[in-house]
Amino acid sequence: MARILITSAIPYINGIKHLGNLVGSQMPADLYARYMRQRGHEVLFLCATDEHGTPAELAAAKAGEPVADYCARMWAVQKELSDGFRLSFDKFGRSSSPQNRKLTQHFAGKLDEAGLIDEVAEKQVYSVADGRFLPDRYIEGTCPNCGYDKARGDQCENCTKQLDPTDLINPRSAISGSTDLEVRETKHLYLKQKGMRGKLSDWIESKTDWPVLTTSIAKKWLNDGDGLQDRGITRDLDWGVPVQKGDQPWPGMEGKVFYVWFDAPIEYIACAGEWADEQGLPAEAWERWWRVDHGADDVRYVQFMGKDNVPFHTLSFPATIMGANTIPGEDWKLVDYIKSFNYLNYEGGQFSTSQGRGVFMDQALSILPADYWRWWLLSHAPETSDTEFTWENFQASVNKDLADVLGNFVSRVTKFCRSKFGEEVPAGGSFGEAEEKLIADLTTRIRAYERFMEAIEIRKAAAELRAIWVLGNEYLQANAPWTVFKTDPERAAAMVRLSLNLVRLYAVLSKPFIPDAAAELMTAMGTENGDWPEDVAAALDVLPAGHAFTVPEVTFRKITDDERDAWKAQFSGVRK
Ligand code: MF3
Ligand code: ZN
Repeated sequence: MARILITSAIPYINGIKHLGNLVGSQMPADLYARYMRQRGHEVLFLCATDEHGTPAELAAAKAGEPVADYCARMWAVQKELSDGFRLSFDKFGRSSSPQNRKLTQHFAGKLDEAGLIDEVAEKQVYSVADGRFLPDRYIEGTCPNCGYDKARGDQCENCTKQLDPTDLINPRSAISGSTDLEVRETKHLYLKQKGMRGKLSDWIESKTDWPVLTTSIAKKWLNDGDGLQDRGITRDLDWGVPVQKGDQPWPGMEGKVFYVWFDAPIEYIACAGEWADEQGLPAEAWERWWRVDHGADDVRYVQFMGKDNVPFHTLSFPATIMGANTIPGEDWKLVDYIKSFNYLNYEGGQFSTSQGRGVFMDQALSILPADYWRWWLLSHAPETSDTEFTWENFQASVNKDLADVLGNFVSRVTKFCRSKFGEEVPAGGSFGEAEEKLIADLTTRIRAYERFMEAIEIRKAAAELRAIWVLGNEYLQANAPWTVFKTDPERAAAMVRLSLNLVRLYAVLSKPFIPDAAAELMTAMGTENGDWPEDVAAALDVLPAGHAFTVPEVTFRKITDDERDAWKAQFSGVRK
C-alpha cells in the first residue's frame, strides 16, 4: 500500500466552469484518485478555488458584491457542482483560507531569507481612465512571441508564453479598452528564478517518465533563452494575501498583496491543512503528506492540469519549493508526476468562459446525470491532441458504449434470469471451455486496464474497460443461454450465474469512470463486496447460488435524435 497525494489545478472562482475545464484537470484527477483508493492505497485528493487576483475583484464588482462575499458564494456554487459530478475531493478548499495566507507569507519569508527575493522599483502600467494600476491580466495587446492580438499581460493563450505586461505590443486596458495608459513607478518583490535554471533543468531532465506534453512545454520555457525570467510575485491590489515576511511586516510593501500565481499553488499545501483542521486533526496529519522531514518522501505526488498551467507547475512553483528548501528546517515535497492535457473544443470552435460558449457544468447536469458526461469526457480526454465535443459524438458514445454494451448486458442477464430462474443466482451446471476462455480474456484485459490506469493513460483505460464490457456480450451471444435453456437448463444456469457475477465485476471495474451506475449495479446485485479482481475466476464466484438480486432500473438510457438536435440548438449560442 502506497500513499498518493493528488491535486487538480484549482479553478478560478469567477464563474461556473465549462466541460473543457473539467476534463482538463478535475475529472481525470478524480478518476485516478478513485482508482487508487479502490486498489487499497491511501489517497489524499485535494482541490480548491483560486480566489485572488483581479478576475475575482472584477467579477465581484460586476455582481455588485463585496469580493469576499462573492467568493464565498461562488465557492459554494462550485462545490455543489463538483459534488454533482461526483468529484471525490478529500477537501475542496479555498485559496483565500487563513491557512493559505499564513503559508504564503511563510514561503515568501523563507525565500527572502534564502536571498532569493529582490525588491525592485519598477515602472508599471497605470490606467488613467480606470484610475488604477492595471494588473497583468487586464492589459491586452499583441504577443511579442507569436503575434496573437488578444494576448494577456500574464500569458499568451495562443502560444502559452508567460509574459510581462510591458512586453505587449499596442497595450490597452481590458477593463475599459482605454489606451490612455501611463507607466508609473511602484515597488515589487521578484523571485530570483533565473539563478535556479540549472537546478530546475536537472530536475526536469530526471523526469524521464513524464508525459511528452508536460516535459516539452517545460523544456521549451527553460531552454528558449528568456523562458526563465525572475518573476514579480506582488501586485498593487486590495484583494489577496497581504505581503508579509512570515508573521512580520515587510517594510515598504504595505498595502500590496502577493500575485495570485504565487499563492495559488501554495494552496495545494494549505488545502491539506484545511482538510486536517476541519477534522480537528493535528498538523502532523497534513505534514506527513507535504513535508519530507515528516515522512512525505514515501508519498507519490501527482498533479493534473491543462497545458496552459504547465509552466507554472514545472518552473514557478518548483522554484518556490526548491528555494524555500535551501533554508534549514524547510523540507517541502516536490511533485513526482505531472499529467497535463490539451484542450477540448466545442462544435468547431473553442469552449470559452468569457464568451459563454459551450456547455457549462450546471447546464450539463441539468440535462443528464453525471455518469453520462464522465464517460464521454474521460473516454475522449484530450491527452495526445486537442479533441472536440460534438453532440453527435456524445450521443453515439452514450448510446453505444453505455446503453448498447454495458446497459444491454446487464439488462439481458438480469431479465433472463428473473424470467427463468427467479431473482436469485441460479444453482447447478458446470463451466466449460467457453468460461475458461472468457476468464482468460477478461484476465488479460483487466491486467491491461490496470496498467493504463496506473500510467494515467485515460483513453486507453477507457477503451480497455469498454472491451471488457464487450466480452460479456460476446459470451452471451456466442453461448446463447436462452437457447441452451430449452435443452439443458443446468448448463444455462451456470452461464447465468457467471454472468450475474460479471455484473458485479463490471460495477467494481467501472466505478472510477461511472460511480453512480456502479453503485446502482452493486445495489441491484445485493452486494457490498467491491473487492478488486486480483483473481478473475474467484471474482466471478463471489455471488453464490441462491444469492438474491433485483433487476436494475434502466442503467443507461439512449439519447434520441430529437434530444440531440434540441440540445445542439440550445447550446449553440452564448450563455448570458
Ligand atoms: N486557476 C488556474 C487556472 O484555472 C490554475 C491554478 S493552479 C495552481 O488556470 F497551481 F495555481 F494552483
Ligand atoms: Zn503568443
